[in-house]
Amino acid sequence: MAIGILLVGGFGTRLKPLTNETPKPMLPVGGLPVTEHQLLAAKKAGINTVILATSYLSEVFTPYFGDGSKWGMKLLYAVEKEPLGTGGAIRNAAAMVGFTNTDEEFVIFNGDVLSKHNIAAQLALHKERGADATLHLIEVADARAFGCVPTDTTGRVKDFLEKMDNPVTNDINAGCYVFSPSVISEIPEGKVISIERETFPQLVKSGRPIYGYREQSYWLDIGTPAALFKGSRDFVGGDFLAGVGTNIAAGSSLTGGTSIGSGSAIGAGCKISNSIIGNGVVVGENCTITDSFILHNSLISANSEIIGKYLSPNENLPISTK
Ligand code: GTP
Repeated sequence: MAIGILLVGGFGTRLKPLTNETPKPMLPVGGLPVTEHQLLAAKKAGINTVILATSYLSEVFTPYFGDGSKWGMKLLYAVEKEPLGTGGAIRNAAAMVGFTNTDEEFVIFNGDVLSKHNIAAQLALHKERGADATLHLIEVADARAFGCVPTDTTGRVKDFLEKMDNPVTNDINAGCYVFSPSVISEIPEGKVISIERETFPQLVKSGRPIYGYREQSYWLDIGTPAALFKGSRDFVGGDFLAGVGTNIAAGSSLTGGTSIGSGSAIGAGCKISNSIIGNGVVVGENCTITDSFILHNSLISANSEIIGKYLSPNENLPISTK
């Protein structure tokens, strides 16, 4: 069965300050890290072995995910001392399982995407076409902010184009790729390589069979605070969601798609709206929390007013969720 690689080693600069202490893929969406949502999607597609390609704050992943047995999966960790870029990370991770000795496909996930597309169908199309690589493509209303990926009538990728004012197609790279193992050896070893800017354009130029798998389903890149909050609200799908063992005292109001992790406690008379609250957070009585991100294990004293803030046990900084 295919082997998964999750790219989770980037700096997440656009999400600062939320990524000061937490790597982007470990930020919670609806109470679970983005990475956990992706592992569950991979498992649903029958992928049971996944390599986490980590670098920035790599030490945060292992205590949470361990060997993966909690999810009935096998997890491996490929740690880059210095980030190798998306291409270098794939090569480095695939080497852990000996990509030269396997016929298994690799399914690569950008670690900052929430997608409900059918991974098994993407994999099936890849095999059916005898492709070297098959990318999930998603159509967006306005592709100007993205590189776009035109395909021919058979679905074969014709080009990889940088951002432009008049995109030739609204299909963009959605960040999930199936690779045949032979393609991995095309990526130079131990070098910083971008899969999007270097590997894919080169493969297309040299006439290799690269296909697009087009599917319109729920898809969100959580790369900015506004997008992360939207992803969390989408997952909550109502006023609020609270994890196991979280206690909410009477007389508190939770609205705007607020999500609270597990083992937290909210005091009486609090008003919390459009906020993401982690695990083990204690909020005193009569607090107002709006448009804010409260990291795991934070303590908030009674009568606090927190609006548009990133709060952790160590930091208190402004954020914009709009
Ligand atoms: P920004 O700094 O805000 O652009 O975010 P980023 O660099 O963390 O992520 P970007 O959107 O550019 O990358 C897409 C995915 O690839 C993210 O899930 C990153 O964690 C991951 N990624 C990016 N660069 C590397 C890298 O050098 N090594 C590894 N292992 N993963 C990477």
